[in-house]
Amino acid sequence: MEGGTAMTLAPMQGLTEVLFRKAYEECFPGAIESAVAPFISLTHGPLNNPAKLADVMPENNVGSIPVVPQILGKEPDEFVQVAGRLAEMGYNEVNWNMGCPMRMVTAKHRGCGLMPYPDEVRAILDSVVPRLRMRLSVKVRLGLKSADEVFSMVEVLNDYPLASVTVHPRLGHQQYTGVPDLDTFGRLLPIVRHPVVYNGDIVTPADAEMILSRFPAVSGLMVGRGVLYRPTLPLEMKGLVVDPDERIRQSKRFVAHLMEAITRSLPGEESRTRKTKEYWNLLWRSLPISELEARKALRAERLQDVEKIIAAFIQ
Ligand SMILES: Cc1cc2nc3c(=O)[nH]c(=O)nc-3n(C[C@H](O)[C@H](O)[C@H](O)COP(=O)(O)O)c2cc1C
Repeated sequence: MEGGTAMTLAPMQGLTEVLFRKAYEECFPGAIESAVAPFISLTHGPLNNPAKLADVMPENNVGSIPVVPQILGKEPDEFVQVAGRLAEMGYNEVNWNMGCPMRMVTAKHRGCGLMPYPDEVRAILDSVVPRLRMRLSVKVRLGLKSADEVFSMVEVLNDYPLASVTVHPRLGHQQYTGVPDLDTFGRLLPIVRHPVVYNGDIVTPADAEMILSRFPAVSGLMVGRGVLYRPTLPLEMKGLVVDPDERIRQSKRFVAHLMEAITRSLPGEESRTRKTKEYWNLLWRSLPISELEARKALRAERLQDVEKIIAAFIQ
């Protein structure tokens, strides 16, 4: 793969939060250039709720992959206020989530629920953009119900000074399943006037190669689940890890490191057990074990049992 293509870690609520971003950067410094943080929702006043901003607080992010905070919502004044606080923290870019497919989000014209409403988006951008003290990027899907939606939306997005447009080529109702619609992505790419980042289903170096050779105009790749299925993927994409045995050795090292970070960072046995299982449910795929074996750790109830089972796999 061309060494120069930037790779961004995708925002994934509960997964690519600061605990993960720091553990990853400690294990594989510089392998991932940047990360978009899981969204901060504008509902329920995030500025009055320190927990909602904890993931992007600079003091919590020392040693993390460099991060761009993300906002989910459609209220211009709240958007500008939250972005203002982020600017005070030192951030120079904020990402707007126009891709979240959860029903309770889309029903209120938030996330991907904005995609059928280009006029609404224009009104929001008209209000927000002149008041922002930082760069704005957006993350979109092809649409909520139809891929036609993104074409009307791009006409709007093209009128504003955006840092980038990340495209996840699925519809809202597909959630994260089904095949990404690369044909529509290919028709979209030449008409977006901003740098376009491709996101979706990159889980092997060959997937990344395929996207880059088919769409040389993309300015970068965003990878989510692929990094959890195969933590060495960013290194492999840079040609830094090629030997299969080395890949497994590095994957084990990362799993061990993340487990230690969970123990260090989370209070209480219950939260540690839950978090360990959430990550293991994806990470086991990077090791030479079967799903049946991996599930033993998911079935165990006590933290010490979960840890013991995983420890045996990563020796
Ligand atoms: C559990 C989970 C949480 C997610 N949270 C967010 C989020 O907070 N903001 C966002 O823009 N996308 C979110 N996404 C979507 C991912 O950023 C990404 O678009 C999606 O996983 C497809 O990319 P991938 O195939 O590389 O994983 C989430 C996805 C998953 C599976």
